[in-house]
Amino acid sequence: MDGAGELLGDDALARLRAETSQGRGLPNMAYTSDTWLEHERRHLMWPMWMLAGFESQISEPGDALPVTVAGCPIVMVHRRDGGIAAFHNVCRHRGAVIVTEPCKGLATLTCPYHAWAYGLDGKLRTRPHFHGGGQHDIPEDGDARGNLRSVRCESWRGMLFVNIDGKAAPLAEHMAPADEHLEGWEPQTLAYGGSLTFEVKANWKHIHENFIDVYHKFAIHPALCEFAPLETSNPMVPIADHLLKTWHVIAAPQEGRGKGLPPLPNLPDVLHREGRFFTMIPTCNINIWYDQIAILVAEPTGTGTTRETIHLLFAPEAMAAQYDGARQNALNTWDGLNREDILPLESMQRGRVSPGFDGGTLSPFWDPGTHFFARQVAELMVAHEGSAP
Ligand code: FES
Ligand SMILES: [Fe+2]
Repeated sequence: MDGAGELLGDDALARLRAETSQGRGLPNMAYTSDTWLEHERRHLMWPMWMLAGFESQISEPGDALPVTVAGCPIVMVHRRDGGIAAFHNVCRHRGAVIVTEPCKGLATLTCPYHAWAYGLDGKLRTRPHFHGGGQHDIPEDGDARGNLRSVRCESWRGMLFVNIDGKAAPLAEHMAPADEHLEGWEPQTLAYGGSLTFEVKANWKHIHENFIDVYHKFAIHPALCEFAPLETSNPMVPIADHLLKTWHVIAAPQEGRGKGLPPLPNLPDVLHREGRFFTMIPTCNINIWYDQIAILVAEPTGTGTTRETIHLLFAPEAMAAQYDGARQNALNTWDGLNREDILPLESMQRGRVSPGFDGGTLSPFWDPGTHFFARQVAELMVAHEGSAP
């Protein structure tokens, strides 16, 4: 079952539906097959909205942020006219990646290989020595062949998402089911408070399923359980085809989580007493605590390897020097929490080559979200087949 036809054919889908309807997860090959991953990128990820960055990371004209989303190098740009744009970060000459580091104050995006220069609107401006030494080329305006290819980009609450195939429903529509669970909260633009990156030797779905899995916290996250006990936590439940949510009652605020930082502005009262988590299929998880938002992203770097990034957002006033220690505590807390997850994640990846495991036995109380995710992976890949650019 490793060829593309078999992978996405009716028989395979019927088998997946049958297996997942029995309370089982995805079969081992979904975590070990390179072909499966390539199909996921094209048919599950490129047609969906994927988190790419935050408005606060490119807050001024001339700011540029290179990212990798579903395997694609993309650059997010704050244009001179104040708008935000996303482009495939790939030179139209020979395909080199153009912007390799976050930049500020750029006038052009200039490729490091042969110095082709593009405006912040993506238009090709100059091709030095293109017709011979000293024979520079300034393309005619309107010749689109040399321009950067744009990527559809929209913002939700200061978070920038891209839709690589350009055919998804508007982002506001996509996120409306989450809006309904935020009591009309319209946060001001929060401050970007830093990120953590982890290279995990596990398929990206293990990381995403771990976002969904509330059940594991009593066994491996003792401090998190003191903060928000399992007894007052709830399983992830679907609220749309691509969104799940859960909520946790806060019992005892801790340094780095609830103590030391100012609350997020304009937060509804109920969000001072509980945390709300949203998992966005395919790769993003949004954790809202009353003094911080943590956004976790799983970017597949190979079939059995994932780059996990945790972004932290705080109230703007929390960026003052007096909160330096409290912000560092929050980063340290997420670092420690995530390290507790890595061993089980990597051990599950090793378990997926064993004939002694194929789909597992899911808890009827805690795992409907994992079950739902498994089915959606299969369904969305088939639904989007043929829609990739
Ligand atoms: S590859 Fe970019 S200028 Fe040649
Ligand atoms: Fe965990």
